[in-house]
Amino acid sequence: KIIVLDYGSQYNQLITRRIREFGIFSELLPNTTTAAEIKKIAPKGIIFSGGPMSVYDDGAFSVDPEIFELGIPILGICYGMQLISFKNGGNVEASTEREYGKAEITVTDKDSDLFKGLPEKQTVWMSHGDKVTAIPEGFVTVAESDNTPFTAIENRERRIYGIQFHTEVRNTEFGNDILKNFAFGVCGAQDNWTMNDFIDMQIAKIREQVGDKKVLLGLSGGVDSSVVGVLLHRAIGDQLVSIFVDHGLLRKGEVEQVMESLGGKFGLNIIQVDAKDRFMSKLAGVSDPEKKRKIIGNEFIQVFDEEATKLNGIDFLAQGTLYTDIIESGTSTATTIKSHHNVGGLPEDMQFSLIEPLNTLFKDEVRDLGEKLGMPYELVWRQPFPGPGLGIRVLGEVTEDKLKIVRDSDLILREEFALAGLDKTVWQYFTVLPGIRSVGVMGDGRTYDYTVGIRAVNSIDGMTADFSRIPWDILQKVSVRIVNEVDHVNRIVYDITSKPPSTVEWE
Ligand code: XMP
Repeated sequence: KIIVLDYGSQYNQLITRRIREFGIFSELLPNTTTAAEIKKIAPKGIIFSGGPMSVYDDGAFSVDPEIFELGIPILGICYGMQLISFKNGGNVEASTEREYGKAEITVTDKDSDLFKGLPEKQTVWMSHGDKVTAIPEGFVTVAESDNTPFTAIENRERRIYGIQFHTEVRNTEFGNDILKNFAFGVCGAQDNWTMNDFIDMQIAKIREQVGDKKVLLGLSGGVDSSVVGVLLHRAIGDQLVSIFVDHGLLRKGEVEQVMESLGGKFGLNIIQVDAKDRFMSKLAGVSDPEKKRKIIGNEFIQVFDEEATKLNGIDFLAQGTLYTDIIESGTSTATTIKSHHNVGGLPEDMQFSLIEPLNTLFKDEVRDLGEKLGMPYELVWRQPFPGPGLGIRVLGEVTEDKLKIVRDSDLILREEFALAGLDKTVWQYFTVLPGIRSVGVMGDGRTYDYTVGIRAVNSIDGMTADFSRIPWDILQKVSVRIVNEVDHVNRIVYDITSKPPSTVEWE
């Protein structure tokens, strides 16, 4: 295993991720981790990440100097390299100007460990202000660029290395190779780590943390909370209690699927709360999208709180927080929180410790984990689904009749996309009911019925999205089926706007 100490770079999540892709376990630890703690963990190597600070800043993140004496190989990236120089008698020059973007570097030392087997000239991604201007004793320069004479330094005897650029971003041509040279060549790590090891590790950790106490989990039907549920259940069985609020705004078959799969096959103890009527009565007469969202969000928290309060003796709250959800520097293992900060509204006097077993993983790693846990395809590869559910896909006032149209048409869309294999390539797809009616002709008669909109987009993170180019014949099949099989629909339109200027959802 190789640990990464977190100095706050926006890229530091990518470093651990790349190393895990090599088959070596890697995790991010706070930069306050001491040499004694690291000795206990016994990693094969240590990486100091980059970060936005200058080593001269007040309160600049530092390092336990004993870490340099552990004899464990160290690689400093950007700020990490400056810290290594600064702490070992080199010089760092503060600068207000940043070097940002692509740079050409030249490898100047044929014996370099980091650049072994790599070309002399390469393109890298720089992003730094300060730079090293004199290297510590015992170090040699192994690469330079026009702007940055000390682009990479090595102390091969002490196995301490520094690079000024970012290996972990794709724009650095040989970034992965440099990291590999460090991980395999210098550290001698082995590529024998898999997601199954992660499962074993987490289960042991959860058991130790929880002991004989109880854990509460809010299930949403989404990938993250479902995977957390199955993982926790494997670790602590019925000490896990899950609450699944059915707000009546889920897609067709979803409640049944969660209950049958997670509750049935996996044996989770799930308290299913049927709150359909509460949500519908709160939504009655409301057509403003923002008001609808607020009502659904608040009601959700209230229902969850009420159920949680009924339970006694809960000490932990589990959450499906991912690596990408963690904004603050430092990883949290068991932070005691005022729970309403996290779940929105649990009573103030309820104090939980948090369990977040996925907080070192990216979304696709969570899916991999779900598959390794034996979870079904539909749950593991579920497309993104908004918290307010179908409540924002029925435009304007939400009624049971309109929900039924969206549910039935959405199921047809999902079936046809699955048949065509589009469920694997299209990021998100669904139907909406704009609420407009238009004239049509069916059989011999005139109709005056609803229009259903089809939305299908591709996106990485939902922040921007491009409408998917769906083949006409598939759209036609969906159109014919919806009009034939769903009552009160006589027209289908396909949404050909991207985000921006549109959003993915229509409300
Ligand atoms: P928009 O409509 O904002 O959607 O372009 C971007 C992505 O986010 C999803 N979405 C939500 N997810 N709670 C969620 O958890 C919400 O309130 C919410 N609103 C939109 C949307 O489905 C899309 O994937």
